[in-house]
Amino acid sequence: MGELSRIIGIASGKGGVGKTLTAINLGIALQELGEQVTVVDADLTVSNLGVQLGTFSFDVSLQDVLSGKEHILNAVHQHPIGLMVVPSSLSVDDVYTGLKPNAKKLRRDLKKLKGFVILDCPPGLTDDALTVLEVVDDIVVVTNPDVPSVTDAIKVIKITRDLKKNVLGVVVNRIQGTNYELRPAEIEIMCEAPIISKIPEDKIIKKSIFEETPVIKYSPYSKPSIEFRRLAYYMTNRTFKEPKNLFFKRFMEKLRGF
Ligand SMILES: Nc1ncnc2c1ncn2[C@@H]1O[C@H](COP(=O)(O)OP(=O)(O)OP(=O)(O)O)[C@@H](O)[C@H]1O
Ligand SMILES: [Mg+2]
Repeated sequence: MGELSRIIGIASGKGGVGKTLTAINLGIALQELGEQVTVVDADLTVSNLGVQLGTFSFDVSLQDVLSGKEHILNAVHQHPIGLMVVPSSLSVDDVYTGLKPNAKKLRRDLKKLKGFVILDCPPGLTDDALTVLEVVDDIVVVTNPDVPSVTDAIKVIKITRDLKKNVLGVVVNRIQGTNYELRPAEIEIMCEAPIISKIPEDKIIKKSIFEETPVIKYSPYSKPSIEFRRLAYYMTNRTFKEPKNLFFKRFMEKLRGF
């Protein structure tokens, strides 16, 4: 990877579909591959990256960078699990002007970082969410296999393409395989974009969030973790091979209490 960073937005139309989950676990999977990665909490109003990563203390936030108070490099913190993170302030005292007037600056600043810059986007089509789409190079769209979230994903994909940005593909999260959910092949046709990851519904996700440890660290051989790794391989044009003896490894993880 060259000097310039590649800014990838993890976006969705509907909220709560698994953007933050994807941003964090994809970030760690890319780092495992030796890539330089920074995960940025671009959801300035209801920042929730910290909730899934486990709260950790930081002195400089993205808001300080946007207000011109701090250099972007001062806002990059190493989380105890090893991931580089630019957190958002949770403080209601922080004067918040919205991202819109700061889009160009945000892009310039994020380009100063190296490797993959993964933006955990705000949901929906609010001003902030649309502004993030202007800041990114590419997006990954997260959806659940139901009509409401796919309908909203289609809107985000259309807006992104109108902005002449690249849609890398769609992550379908919370697949249960029931006959009342949309199939990945149907979602692919509806979105006119490739499905690049299929994450099953799995209680290990809720457990790992409860334990404030990303699932890829909490249960490395669980199905969602394998899928996040597969996605990281795809994004770096590597060929993914499933680890050997997965069944046995999962069994051992279960024995250890997961
Ligand atoms: N594959 C899954 N299996 C089980 N539960 C899941 C799965 N993916 C997500 N969840 C649940 O959905 C919740 C929302 O996920 P997440 O916070 O990543 O969504 P989000 O798109 O970032 O939400 P927001 O739009 O509010 O930022 C998680 O806290 C978890 O409880
Ligand atoms: Mg989120």
